[in-house]
Amino acid sequence: MKKYKAVIVGGGSTWTPGLLKSLCERQADFPLEELRMYDIDAERQAVIGEFAKVLFAEEYPELKFLYTTDKAQAYKDVDFVFCQIRSGGFDMRMLDEQIPLAHGVVGQETCGAGGFAYGLRSIPDMIQIVRDAREYAGDPWILNYTNPAAIVAVALERVFPGDRKIVNMCDQPVNLLESFAKALGIRRQDIIPEYVGLNHFGWFTRLTDREGNDLLSPLRERILSDGFLPADAAERDASWLHTYAMVQTIMRDFPDYVPNTYLQYYLYPDQVVARLDPDHTRTEEVRNGREKRVLTQCRQAAAQGSTRGLTIARSEAHADMIVEVASSIALDKGESFIMITRNNGTVANFHEDAMVETVARVDAGGVTAAPFGRIDVFMKGLMEGQYAYEQLTVDCYFEGSYKKALQALTLNRTLVDAQKARAVLNDLIDANQRYWPELK
Ligand code: NAD
Ligand code: G6P
Ligand code: MN
Repeated sequence: MKKYKAVIVGGGSTWTPGLLKSLCERQADFPLEELRMYDIDAERQAVIGEFAKVLFAEEYPELKFLYTTDKAQAYKDVDFVFCQIRSGGFDMRMLDEQIPLAHGVVGQETCGAGGFAYGLRSIPDMIQIVRDAREYAGDPWILNYTNPAAIVAVALERVFPGDRKIVNMCDQPVNLLESFAKALGIRRQDIIPEYVGLNHFGWFTRLTDREGNDLLSPLRERILSDGFLPADAAERDASWLHTYAMVQTIMRDFPDYVPNTYLQYYLYPDQVVARLDPDHTRTEEVRNGREKRVLTQCRQAAAQGSTRGLTIARSEAHADMIVEVASSIALDKGESFIMITRNNGTVANFHEDAMVETVARVDAGGVTAAPFGRIDVFMKGLMEGQYAYEQLTVDCYFEGSYKKALQALTLNRTLVDAQKARAVLNDLIDANQRYWPELK
């Protein structure tokens, strides 16, 4: 059986240990000859790279492994590129959250003005990664989940139109499916979903078991009566528990479908702003939680020469999805995943060129969405505004246009008021001078 070469771009990511573990557990499904890690931050990546050596000695001894900050060495001859970078790091994420909140509007990593700011930083870096990968590796598969995945997907589609070897994905639908399964007391694999929307802006419109029996109605009853928790609630920070709980609020108002949790920011922006504290945003929680845990335990693994007793050395839905998608491509399995892909008529009454998120078949030819049919007026109205925001954000980047930036933010449901949008935009411009093109 062919064995593959892969590189993780953003090797220093807090998500890397989980991905490494999942690669170990799925050796038979996605056989690797060589794995590399690449990052622009040598010091940060080295901590995780040393953990990787210990983990692979235990679980993947024949795997060739290296970590590097040299592009040529990183990409040479790889078959798969996994992208998980954070342009600007957590310092800039903090500002993406704080600046909008200082103006009384939602400040979030991927949604609203924060997502806009992060998008303008991620676009050039992701374009560069695709170009570098192709320069040094020929034509590898590029699996991207760098956020804001919605904006990155639209921008990459602009630069590399119709490119089937660029694959865009997000783990939130599968996290939700895991949570539905737990609420219903069944296995995630036994739920057949229908899902539609844009990334971080979608709905489960149908859930059935393998015999076609409706599962959405019993799930709705359960959520309305008992609330809603993530499948891995015990490991979640308080803000994520709150986010999942908001699914009940959304379903009280709009019971037809089960929403993606990110819709809370668009449907209840005032309530979200009232809850968030500009002095203690999600970045602080991540740095004190996931980041600290990962870096501390990686150092511990290197010091003790083993991964025994460490909680980060376990695969999770996020990592499992990435490896399963890679496996489905490599082994031409044709498995179903909820993916971000060009609409091409999948949603019959929506723009052909929109990057929609929906159920898709993944095989050696790439990602092919299953026909969805028509979306209803409420969804269409919401998605039209969000799609226009995505398009204008990407236009703003390529044209260096202040006007498009202001239009994008004004259309975003987390802002709405054009004067607020202008004030937030001006502060974001000041904060992002090192990263953004000049907006005129
Ligand atoms: P992190 O800051 O811990 O890790 C990112 C790493 O990328 C850092 O080590 C950084 O030095 C490196 N990096 C930054 N720019 C780079 C570049 N141009 N080239 C190479 N490396 C670069 O962040 P994190 O919290 O672990 O998240 C990583 C990314 O994964 C983020 O974009 C996050 O939003 C994304 N993510 C997406 C999903 C999804 O559903 N799509 C799920 C989880 C994480
Ligand atoms: C979900 C989203 C991702 C996001 C992740 C972590 O899985 O789908 O896009 O990156 O949560 O968010 P956090 O706030 O914990 O960094
Ligand atoms: Mn996501």
